[in-house]
Amino acid sequence: MNQEKIIVIDFGGQYNQLIARRVRECNVYCEIYSYKTDIEQIKAMNPKGIILTGGPNSCYEEGAASCSKEIFELGVPVLGLCYGAQLMMYLLGGRVCKAPVREYGKIEVQIDKSSKLFGDVSEKTICWMSHNDYIEEKAPGFRIVAHTTNCPVAAAECEEKKLYAIQYHPEVLHTQEGSKMLCNFIYEVCGCTGSWRMDTFVENSIQAIRKKVGTGKVLCALSGGVDSSVAAVMLAKAVGEQLTCVFVDHGLLRKNEGDEVEAVFGPNGPYNLKFIRVNAQQRFYDKLKHVEEPEQKRKIIGEEFIRVFEEEAKKIGAVDFLVQGTIYPDVVESGLGGESAVIKSHHNVGGLPDYVDFKEIIEPLRNLFKDEVRKAGLELGIPENLVYRQPFPGPGLGIRIIGEVTPEKVKMVQDADAIYREEIAAAGLDRGIGQYFAALTNMRSVGVMGDERTYDYAVALRAVNTVDFMTAEAAEIPWEVLSKAANRIVNEVEHVNRVLYDCTGKPPATIEFE
Ligand code: XMP
Repeated sequence: MNQEKIIVIDFGGQYNQLIARRVRECNVYCEIYSYKTDIEQIKAMNPKGIILTGGPNSCYEEGAASCSKEIFELGVPVLGLCYGAQLMMYLLGGRVCKAPVREYGKIEVQIDKSSKLFGDVSEKTICWMSHNDYIEEKAPGFRIVAHTTNCPVAAAECEEKKLYAIQYHPEVLHTQEGSKMLCNFIYEVCGCTGSWRMDTFVENSIQAIRKKVGTGKVLCALSGGVDSSVAAVMLAKAVGEQLTCVFVDHGLLRKNEGDEVEAVFGPNGPYNLKFIRVNAQQRFYDKLKHVEEPEQKRKIIGEEFIRVFEEEAKKIGAVDFLVQGTIYPDVVESGLGGESAVIKSHHNVGGLPDYVDFKEIIEPLRNLFKDEVRKAGLELGIPENLVYRQPFPGPGLGIRIIGEVTPEKVKMVQDADAIYREEIAAAGLDRGIGQYFAALTNMRSVGVMGDERTYDYAVALRAVNTVDFMTAEAAEIPWEVLSKAANRIVNEVEHVNRVLYDCTGKPPATIEFE
C-alpha cells in the first residue's frame, strides 16, 4: 500500500512498540525496523519521518548499537528518543557521557515554545525520564530547546536539517504532553496528513485480498478468538463462499462458546462463507485420559488439534490460500521487525502450513497492533462481545483444570467460570481487567451442605492486570463481587464446596492456573 509512513529504528529499548502505536494513534502508519537495517533499504521505503528509539547501550562504548550517519543527511526528519537522542548528538559531534545524577521517573522539564515540537505544550511539563547517560554538550548546529535541573540538554534541535533529539520518553503516558509532542513532530515537522484510518485500511485490505485471491479457494482455522475472527470476516467480505472456515470444538472451550462462534460464523450468521464445525470433544477427552502434567496436556491438545484440522483439510482438498491471524507484535517479536526479539514458545497454535495443501499464506492483520485489530473488527461489524474477548489459551480449559481432565470437571469449571464472568460484567469490571477466569484445583476438602457432609472440589478465581502478559499483578476485585460470585458458584455448581482467590502476581506465578 502506498501511504505516508514513519519508520521507527529499533535500538532495543523497551518502549519501541509503544512508539509505533502512538504514531498510529496520530493516524499515521508506522513500522519498526532493526537498527541494522541497511540505509539503502530505509531510503527505498521513502519515509516521511524516522524515529530512533531508546536502547540499553551507551552510545560511546565499543560495539554499541549504532546507525549510519547518512540517516541524518537524507533530508528526512529524524527524531531521536533517549538513546536515539544521545546517538544523534554523538554521531554529529556532541558529547555524551555518564550523567552525574541519574534521572528516573517523572521529572519537570522546561521547554522552549518556539520549537516546532512544543508549540502547544506547557512551558513546564512533566516527562518520563530513564537514563544513566546524558548529553553533556549538544552537537554543532543544534540549539537546546528543553532542560531540567540535572539535564542541560533534555531536547535539542536543528530546525534547518529537521533533526530533533529528546532525552525523555514522549511515548510513555507518564509524559503528560507526550502525544502532543509526537503529533507535532509528525504533522509540523514531517508534514504528514494523517491518512492512516481503520475504515480505509479495512476497505483497501478487502479490495487487495479480492484481487490476490481471484477465483482461488481459501482455508481458515477459526478459533473464535479476536484475531482469527477478524481475519475470517475480512476474508468473507472479500471472497465470500470461496472461504471455508474450520472451527474445531475440542470440548475445552468456555461455556456455550462453541455455539456462540457458530451463531456468528455458521449458516444462520450474517456472513457468507462456508463454515465447518468439528465436534471433536470426545477425541480430546480420550487422549487426555490419565494425563496430569500441564505441558503434556498442551502437547496432546496441540497435536490432536492439528490432526483434526488435517482431516478436515483433506476432505476439502487442495486450497490456494491459508489464512493466518498473525498480528504486528508477532512479526516484531519473532525478530522480523524490530530488535527486541522475544521467542514465542507455545502461544500460537500456528504451524499449520506443514500439512495443509496450499500455495500461499494470507495474513490480513500482519500490520496491525491488537487494539487496531479490535478497531478493524468493529469496522467490519463483528459483535462487540467477540471483539473485546479476553485472551483465551489455545489448549483452553485443558490447562485450567489441575490434574486429569474429565468431561465432568470441564463442566464444573465452565459453569464456575460463566458465573464469575457474569458477576464481573455485572459489576462493570469486564473491560478493565486484563484477564480473569475460574480454574478447577485438584484439591478436595470437607464441607457441609444443608445437614450433609461433602467432600468436593475447590474452584480458584483469578484476575490479573497486565500490559504485556509477561508480568502481571493480581487485580483487586471488590469483595462484594468476589463473595457474590463465590456464593453463586458453591450453590449452583455441583461438586464445588469452596472458592479461593489467587492473589499471586507473575512472577512468581503465571497468569494461567495450571
Ligand atoms: P502465562 O500463564 O504463561 O500466560 O503467564 C500468559 C498469556 O498467555 C496465555 N497462554 C497461552 N495461550 N496457548 C495459548 O494460546 C497456551 O498454551 C498458553 N499458555 C498461556 C495466557 O492465557 C495468558 O494470556
